Amino acid sequence: MLCSSYAHNGGLKPLFVRIYLGGKTHHLLLLSLDVQMQKEIPMSNPKIAIVIGSTRDARFADKPANWLFAKVKDLSSDLDFDLVDLKDYDLPMFNEMASNLWMPSTDAKAIAWQEKMAEYDGYIFVTPEYNSSIPASLKNALDQAGKEWVRKPAAVFGYGAVGGARAVEHLRAVAINLQMVPVRSAVYISGSDFFKVSPLGANAEMSEIEAGILPSVEAMLGDLTWWTHATKAARAEGSMEKAA
Ligand SMILES: Cc1cc2nc3c(=O)[nH]c(=O)nc-3n(C[C@H](O)[C@H](O)[C@H](O)COP(=O)(O)O)c2cc1C
Repeated sequence: MLCSSYAHNGGLKPLFVRIYLGGKTHHLLLLSLDVQMQKEIPMSNPKIAIVIGSTRDARFADKPANWLFAKVKDLSSDLDFDLVDLKDYDLPMFNEMASNLWMPSTDAKAIAWQEKMAEYDGYIFVTPEYNSSIPASLKNALDQAGKEWVRKPAAVFGYGAVGGARAVEHLRAVAINLQMVPVRSAVYISGSDFFKVSPLGANAEMSEIEAGILPSVEAMLGDLTWWTHATKAARAEGSMEKAA
């Protein structure tokens, strides 16, 4: 018996085999999968939601949130970003029997919010400081989801007279209870910078203060990138059985 093969392309590889058997020539066509092709499937970037925490009509929030969204898209090639506006979800005040960690929610708007948050591997919360904490709109939105937050990183971009510093700390404490990973580096628009760009002050463009806050945006992105990739890989490997 004598065998020879010839002709193949990439992908699904045709293999033509000629066999001399019992004095006769036989031709066979075999198909095999090209393993090289499987290695070249591109991996998609983890997804980050930039969540606008203030919902009031006269809010300043749009200005820093839109500025941040444009900057992070330029600065990061390892993460993909969406701007998510709480106003679009029109959430009622939390009125469920329990967190969805223990039983499914009933309110359609709460469920739509949970489904949106489930799309992401990490979050940047853009928050003002209201009476030394985060606004009720943002706290309610955090309460309205549960299992969607678990083992994902949370970064904070605060603004206010003291940079939203007390709101940032409160949000970190809330995030821990929601089983998130609050990252160390945050962004604070404070003092004269805040009053330069806020409508409460000069209402100037964000470009007027960006040299001062870009280093902290970069530091926050560095932390967020590391923790997003680490937690995404760990979630893919392990199960969620301990989350409750
Ligand atoms: C109810 C309320 C409470 C506030 N409390 C604080 C505060 O504790 N610390 C602070 O720096 N600014 C405080 N401010 C000012 C806000 O930081 C400022 O109005 C900011 O623009 C609010 O964000 P927003 O316009 O995106 O809603 C408060 C504003 C409101 C409306």
